[in-house]
Amino acid sequence: MDLNLSEEHRMIRDMAREFAQKEIAPIAAHHDETGEFPYETIRKMGEQGFMGIEVPEEYGGVGMDTMAYVLALEEISKVDASHGVVMSVNNSLYCYGFLRYGTEEQKQTYLRPVASGEVVGAYALTEPQSGSDAGNMRVTAILSPDGSHYVINGTKSWISSGPAAKYIVLFVQTDPDAQPRHKGVSAFVIDTDQPGFSRGKTEPKLGIRASATCEIHFEDYHCPVDHRLGEEGNGFIISMSVLDAGRIGIAAQALGIAEAAYEASVQYACEREAFGQKIGQFQMIQQKIADMKMRIEASRLLIYQAALAKEDFKKTGRRYTLESCMAKTFASETAMWVTTQAIQIHAGMGYSKELPIERYFRDAKVTEIYEGTSEIQRMVIARLETGLR
Ligand code: CAA
Repeated sequence: MDLNLSEEHRMIRDMAREFAQKEIAPIAAHHDETGEFPYETIRKMGEQGFMGIEVPEEYGGVGMDTMAYVLALEEISKVDASHGVVMSVNNSLYCYGFLRYGTEEQKQTYLRPVASGEVVGAYALTEPQSGSDAGNMRVTAILSPDGSHYVINGTKSWISSGPAAKYIVLFVQTDPDAQPRHKGVSAFVIDTDQPGFSRGKTEPKLGIRASATCEIHFEDYHCPVDHRLGEEGNGFIISMSVLDAGRIGIAAQALGIAEAAYEASVQYACEREAFGQKIGQFQMIQQKIADMKMRIEASRLLIYQAALAKEDFKKTGRRYTLESCMAKTFASETAMWVTTQAIQIHAGMGYSKELPIERYFRDAKVTEIYEGTSEIQRMVIARLETGLR
């Protein structure tokens, strides 16, 4: 794999690093503590082009590739994973769906403002009874007798950026009796300012606390037919193919978290003394440092491989589900493992809120859960490898 980054890649990585240090680092702990959504810095990220990296300029983005996206996302997440997930959802779960399945009019109306960062986008698949088994959904969209609009009813849950989003890509049942069941699912774009839409409780979360997550409710929400994304009955396939892209983003987020915890640990191991020497001179600490480094670099290779596979998809149409699932699983488990070791190395100070180590640990956990748990990722990988179900 050619890891020589282009001038353009280095430029966006450095821009993201500088932005994160200057704008996000000073506020990250406060927003983690209060759980306030960081509207101001998210708006600034939009101005920098970080909210629609792969979206062509004609639709409000900056027209770069997946490698540029993961490099920037890694830098933002290294400073704050909450900003990272808002960026990831906006770029891959929202914008990518329009790039792949939107009509020209939909791209102009619903992609442009989100890709440019003017407003925030979200993605609604999960329901109270269906997380891992995403196809088991109950929210319905029933076509009106005159065929002009759908009437949507029901509740979606765990919607990342839900409290802040202007537009949401929504997956619902248009034919609950369809066989196979996934053919009954369709995708729509929802305007959260329209009647019939409301927000429910905001989730009190362990980590990524500054990224708001909530339930959303539909009560006779009228959705015009031209707000449907793709064909009726193709919604489940859209949701899954969009998650292929999204999981690369979560992998990059996890990599950023792991790197932050690792760098802090190396510094601490070189400064902290015990029994008359630096703790980094003890073999047990050295082993942790070595294993942290190896897992981080292995994650990076899987993520870059997935980014290249997604670029290849644009030319060949070959699915990159396998590469995406492998990168997400390995990087998220690395983030959890590395942040656990980082607390151990820092000991009492790692457990204290005076340092961000405990935040990295809390933030890492969700990367093993959202956009498909590690168990679901392994199921998908094994299905693809064996052909068995
Ligand atoms: N690309 C294109 N098509 C795909 C696909 C993909 N990646 N994955 C599946 N499909 C197609 C299949 O080929 C099949 O179509 P055909 O019948 O035409 O062949 C159809 O979709 C149904 O697929 P399955 O039979 O595999 O579906 P399933 O019900 O057995 O389960 C699953 C699929 C992988 C378990 C899926 O339900 C899944 O990924 N679950 C996890 C859900 C998830 O990740 N949720 C995340 C919520 S969003 C979020 O978390 C965002 C956030 O907060 C940050």
